[in-house]
Amino acid sequence: MAEPSTRTTEQTRAQAGEVLVDVRGLKVHFPIKRGVVFDRTIGHVYAVDGVDLQIRRGETYGLVGESGCGKSTLGRAILNLETPTEGTVSFDGEDVASLTGERLRRKRQHMQMVFQDPMSSLDPRQSVEALLVEGMRAHGLDQDKAATSARLRELLGAVGLPAAALAKYPHEFSGGQRQRIGIARALSVGPDLIVADEPVSALDVSVQAQVLNLLEELQVEFGLTYLVVAHDLAVVRHISDRIGVMYLGGLVEESEAGELYDLPLHPYTRALMSAVPVPDPALEDAREQILLTGDLPSPSNPPTGCRFHTRCPWRQPTRCDEERPQLRVVEVPGATEGHRVACHWAEGIAAGEIPRHEVVPQAVESYDATTPADDGSPFGPASVGEVG
Ligand SMILES: Nc1ncnc2c1ncn2[C@@H]1O[C@H](COP(=O)(O)OP(=O)(O)OP(=O)(O)O)[C@@H](O)[C@H]1O
Ligand code: SF4
Ligand SMILES: [Mg+2]
Repeated sequence: MAEPSTRTTEQTRAQAGEVLVDVRGLKVHFPIKRGVVFDRTIGHVYAVDGVDLQIRRGETYGLVGESGCGKSTLGRAILNLETPTEGTVSFDGEDVASLTGERLRRKRQHMQMVFQDPMSSLDPRQSVEALLVEGMRAHGLDQDKAATSARLRELLGAVGLPAAALAKYPHEFSGGQRQRIGIARALSVGPDLIVADEPVSALDVSVQAQVLNLLEELQVEFGLTYLVVAHDLAVVRHISDRIGVMYLGGLVEESEAGELYDLPLHPYTRALMSAVPVPDPALEDAREQILLTGDLPSPSNPPTGCRFHTRCPWRQPTRCDEERPQLRVVEVPGATEGHRVACHWAEGIAAGEIPRHEVVPQAVESYDATTPADDGSPFGPASVGEVG
């Protein structure tokens, strides 16, 4: 575990904005194959299609977007579990795709994953002790029996479980406790980065806040950097320093977390925000309501130009369906330098110069999510209420 002196160093680096993960022009395309004898590639799923993103050491970056927009694929590519079709992912200054053998194994120790469903990610036949030791052994951290035993107790203590849990099996725990075991497993090898993919969406709302609080405490204690993937805006709001909003393989907006909620600038983000319930009835009545009409297009056949143009209530006759907007810093009062938006008309929309209009649903090849949002809603990201 990190010593206090290391933590101080980590915090200083975070304040200095040192980049731990640097994603440049990342594309991950999956071939769609058909054929009985010869596999023919008949198309591609453009799961991640041109993403630039930096995660600073010590920060929590929240990634949100509808089911199928490519969040998990992006997270997996950062951990070198998907091979980029194009672009690069650097971790601590090294291109992860170029690493092989021992160097890759050593790098993997520094990047760990926490999964959505701890029941399916933890082998039910292994005791908690075996599950934790397995990860450590893979990285040569299980050399001395007494040291390992002390380490296991330390890990369980850190995630709020008693030492007696070591002898038990995953089915003997509640969902929240299982997720604590999943977190202890990720922590066991002393990582710098944890990619948490929907870490609380399988849990009861009452337990979600506890697990999110635990993640925050562990971040401070061990100087961790997080990428938290969620389809729920309330979850990322709770935990993130910065947030990226994804739509069909690309980032459409990125900002410091508070600013994104106070000043959402991309039409898609505005629609997501407008679906999050506000506890104050007066504010609830007064706030902007934007219902998205039209199906989410298929990532195998994304719309031309701006990918959101088939559903955008501010779509303009020029540029929107021809030219893909880049993520750029916008000149909008109140927007700071780190606030980037991929919309040609962001300034005009923010100034109220471009009126909102009805969206006439267009025939698009819609997205049939193989892994639908947890509540079955086609509009996953804003479907669950505020937590904590
Ligand atoms: N190994 C794969 N082979 C082919 N297609 C894939 C593969 N993995 C993901 N996809 C497709 O890539 C797209 C993006 O998937 P991804 O799982 O990254 O989305 P997501 O945003 O995490 O969605 P969810 O919120 O449902 O978890 C989807 O259309 C998905 O079906
Ligand atoms: S570029 Fe056009 S279609 Fe895309 S979000 Fe902006 S206004 Fe809407
Ligand atoms: Mg996913």
